[in-house]
Amino acid sequence: MDKNENIVWHPNKVTQDERQKVLGQRGLVVWFTGLSGSGKSTIAVELEKMLTDAGYAAYLLDGDNIRHGINSDLGFTDEDRNENIRRISEIAALFRDAGIITLVSFISPFRKMREFARERAGKENFIEAWVSTDLETCRKRDPKGLYKKQIQNFTGKDSAYEEPQHPDIILDTVNTTPGECAEIVYREIAERVGKS
Ligand code: ADX
Repeated sequence: MDKNENIVWHPNKVTQDERQKVLGQRGLVVWFTGLSGSGKSTIAVELEKMLTDAGYAAYLLDGDNIRHGINSDLGFTDEDRNENIRRISEIAALFRDAGIITLVSFISPFRKMREFARERAGKENFIEAWVSTDLETCRKRDPKGLYKKQIQNFTGKDSAYEEPQHPDIILDTVNTTPGECAEIVYREIAERVGKS
């Protein structure tokens, strides 16, 4: 028996247009993907501040933080990572629907799940930003000291990272500062969203 068979969708009275009018912007999901230590969260934190200072309603969902709360039951097997991304995709889609510029910073190593996130947000509402820092650089930076530890299923070591094939933006943190990377994404957002 399908456990959802007795659940019926209840429509809202508020339209997307009405929500957008209240906030003066439309929602968007900006999805940062890349290795641990690549600089995703540093860039996303800068960007969230930049957007907020400019009057946008923005919110950052960060993998490390979300894993302290709603995803605290998940580890780092492929299955758990997929569930991690499934949940955050649904959450990001809801934030987007509410009209928020939603920044998502998760390793999100598997293409299939990043595609799922894009589908849930709606293709036209989704920007995939690949923080393309190579493994050697991440290993050298090792901001959390995790590469030094012998952690099982660590992304880039004994757990795969599938590089994006068609990212909307590629961010090179070796030759560009976090602030400059944030600027690049900011410009793309401003172009797509406008602001009234
Ligand atoms: S994801 O692969 O499921 O998308 P997520 O972004 O939520 O990962 O969490 C990654 C963070 O968890 C890393 O930045 C790092 O701080 C920490 N971490 C702990 N164990 C691992 C591991 N085995 N592989 C990668 N990151 C890990």
